[in-house]
Amino acid sequence: MNDNNPPQKSATVPKNPTAQSSRRDLLKKSALAGAGLTILPTGTVFGQNAPSNKLNVALIGVGGRGQAHYGTLKDENVVALCDVDKVKMQPGVDTFPDAKVYLDWRECLDHDDLDAVLCCTADHTHAFIANWALARDLHCYMEKPLAITVNEARTVRESYLPKMDKLATQVGMQRHASPNFNRLSEMVRDGVIGDLKEAYAWGNRQIPREGYLPDAGGAPETMAWDLWLGPSPYHPYNSGYIKDRAGCLEWNMFWDFGIGQMGDMGSHTMDLLWNVIDAELPTSIESKTSEEFNPDVTPVELTSSFIFPANDWRDKIRVTWFQGGAMPKSPSNWIDLNKIGHGVMFKGTKGFIVADFGSRLIIPFGDTADLTYYESRTEDELLPDVGNFQKQWTEACRNGKPSETACNFKYSADMIETMCLGLAAFRAGGKLEYDPAAGKITNNEDANQFLTKPYRDGWTIAG
Ligand SMILES: NC(=O)c1ccc[n+]([C@@H]2O[C@H](COP(=O)([O-])OP(=O)(O)OC[C@H]3O[C@@H](n4cnc5c(N)ncnc54)[C@H](O)[C@@H]3O)[C@@H](O)[C@H]2O)c1
Repeated sequence: MNDNNPPQKSATVPKNPTAQSSRRDLLKKSALAGAGLTILPTGTVFGQNAPSNKLNVALIGVGGRGQAHYGTLKDENVVALCDVDKVKMQPGVDTFPDAKVYLDWRECLDHDDLDAVLCCTADHTHAFIANWALARDLHCYMEKPLAITVNEARTVRESYLPKMDKLATQVGMQRHASPNFNRLSEMVRDGVIGDLKEAYAWGNRQIPREGYLPDAGGAPETMAWDLWLGPSPYHPYNSGYIKDRAGCLEWNMFWDFGIGQMGDMGSHTMDLLWNVIDAELPTSIESKTSEEFNPDVTPVELTSSFIFPANDWRDKIRVTWFQGGAMPKSPSNWIDLNKIGHGVMFKGTKGFIVADFGSRLIIPFGDTADLTYYESRTEDELLPDVGNFQKQWTEACRNGKPSETACNFKYSADMIETMCLGLAAFRAGGKLEYDPAAGKITNNEDANQFLTKPYRDGWTIAG
């Protein structure tokens, strides 16, 4: 927990806890009944597709990325839709005509008899919506990143941990379903490169921005701009924040709305590394850049290094994230890492692995790196595939194993807290020593201000 944003229980939720939990129990029982049909005395028919076995879901952020989830949600009951933009909401209304429509996610989360929330809003609202959903005992799928500050990540994790045995959570890092995630994890842990010493991840996406955009004369009537801003400090409307442009999130580079590549492709690419290293939080962090600090905009080019303590299968390791043109040194002058736009590399005592989301290259080095020390797994020893990433969450909502999603809020909060610490080190301009239990920087009192950000009056993460 952090001192600035202590999570508090809402006095108003859940609206009807008894109804919520009895419906939840019913869903779980029907899932446990297996694939066959069960006729209960009430005459209710259960089976995978029976109406009574479907989740009552609210989709918050219906346009944009939200549309990528319509297919999964068609197998559930979408009972509520929420978007601040009526035009972007329309495809959702056409697809789920029976759903009640909301502009304000705070009201949507109090829709009667909800089981679950799937959220695809802009990043500055993610931790707020996740935390409010947890306070209402709602299962939650949150698009990446889970949070945009250290304190937001800590607050969500703090709310989640006591409920991880009853609420299914997932952060939208769906590339995690690629089998390469498991193969990398198995190979590194099984010793194909000897003992793990360092890990590197990088992304080359560059979206330079100069500063907050000028007042463009008010939002269209179809758009609730004040609700779009939500907890963030006020900025006048400018369509430049929200226009559609393939491949980049227009609001994402501005400190009040996002964390640049750390939260964008960085979420996906660090996930590929994070899944291997089995880490929680770093104890020291250092960042460097060739850029001047811009109070409006997050850096394009950045290198952040993190030291993680040893665990039961590996030593203390250094992990380094590179973005916007910064790159790790290649293990060989005949390997051009720049050919991999978003990639990872692991260095061990007997070699390297270089990988992208779909493939990997093992590079043994030294006279003893003959691979005789490495015993590869048999087929039945391989880690099981994740399968459909979104369905992994909807199934976890009802199968009695809610925490067994690939990117639950513990895994994802640790990862994004680490990334946000990289940005804190960038802002502080020096090496930071971090106490993970307390959530405090211990060698630079002033730098603790960078673990949070300003919010507008009237908005609280502890809803
Ligand atoms: N997992 C992935 O591969 C992937 C891909 C793209 C985007 N994303 C994530 O999805 C989220 C949305 O990205 P996008 O490209 O669709 O952004 P966007 O700005 O184009 O659209 C977001 C949608 O949410 C609505 N919205 C914004 N703020 C809202 C609020 N406070 N309440 C209700 N509705 C709100 C917008 O009107 C819009 O319909 C981001 O967090 C992004 O990081 C993930």
